Amino acid sequence: MEAKLFSSYTIRNLTLKNRIVMSPMCMYSSTTQDGKANAFHFAHYESRAAGQVGLVMTEATAIVPEGRISHEDLGIWSDDHIEGLKIINEGIHRHGAASAIQLAHAGRKANLKNEIFAPSPLRFNEQLQTPLEMSTGDIHQVIMAFKEAARRAKEADFDVIELHGAHGYLINQFLSPLTNQRNDNYGGKRGNRYRFLSEVIAAVQEVWDGPLLVRISADEYQEGGNTMQDFLYYAEEMKEQGVDLIDVSSGGVVPASINPFPGYQLTYAETLKRETGIATGAVGLITHGLQAEELLQNERADLVFIGRALLRNPYWPKQAADELGFSLEGPRQYARAWK
Ligand SMILES: Cc1cc2nc3c(=O)[nH]c(=O)nc-3n(C[C@H](O)[C@H](O)[C@H](O)COP(=O)(O)O)c2cc1C
Repeated sequence: MEAKLFSSYTIRNLTLKNRIVMSPMCMYSSTTQDGKANAFHFAHYESRAAGQVGLVMTEATAIVPEGRISHEDLGIWSDDHIEGLKIINEGIHRHGAASAIQLAHAGRKANLKNEIFAPSPLRFNEQLQTPLEMSTGDIHQVIMAFKEAARRAKEADFDVIELHGAHGYLINQFLSPLTNQRNDNYGGKRGNRYRFLSEVIAAVQEVWDGPLLVRISADEYQEGGNTMQDFLYYAEEMKEQGVDLIDVSSGGVVPASINPFPGYQLTYAETLKRETGIATGAVGLITHGLQAEELLQNERADLVFIGRALLRNPYWPKQAADELGFSLEGPRQYARAWK
């Protein structure tokens, strides 16, 4: 069988060996609390590459220490982080996979002891602090921190950068009218709410000409939030700016309840792709090879992001290949078991 899931995919100067992406997943395992990668991260990411994932993406990696979700997040706010991230990349590249880093700032969702920052002084819930409203100077500093992080990502040998614009973290807080109540030109109408992301993209592009992805939450599950019309506008803008692919997730902006089912976010990826022509990644309860194959064959998305199924089984691509009757080459060392 011709399995599209195992066909190559080219983004800019990079060809992925297949369409399977390890979805970014926080591991809260930088036990030294300084953002540095350790033996856990090296094994964790390399094993998914050995499992034949085409693009292995790191968890949300903080561009400034106050932008961490927890004190144990991975970080890229200093040149001291490059060495550990380079080791992660060596492990991933050893198996012919490409690597991506998700650059993130948690904004008001930072669960830290020190002060936290957001577009508007609105707390997420009772457990988290009320953030300080960012001044224009704060905004520019964070944009520069994204740029510096992108420069370090390049020095650490990442092949792809993804900006975390989803799940109610800082970029998403600027995009959403539920969290952005600013009166300056970073708030108000959607063109203004997009300004922060637009400036982050432009700053990153000054130091990074490789593939650039952005993850968004395409449903906020609450009235008054961004609508599909808003997301179509953002997608057009991103396309115009040269973003290569939108990784389409949902939720997390406010504590709203959602009803997940297999492929629950797929229609958003499909709509953005069809209406704007931008490439999309699908994510969310995709657990079977046939399910992944269906969405690719029907051109509902270009890449398939796998999260929890890959935590359960680092060899998920092999499981998917078996389901599709596709003969997937594995690591040379495991050949006797892989047939
Ligand atoms: C343990 C865990 C940590 C996660 N951390 C992140 C993250 O750092 N960045 C992100 O964009 N999404 C994060 N997510 C969301 C996943 O990337 C993915 O979108 C979600 O789990 C749905 O896909 P799945 O059903 O295949 O797991 C996390 C999910 C899990 C389960």
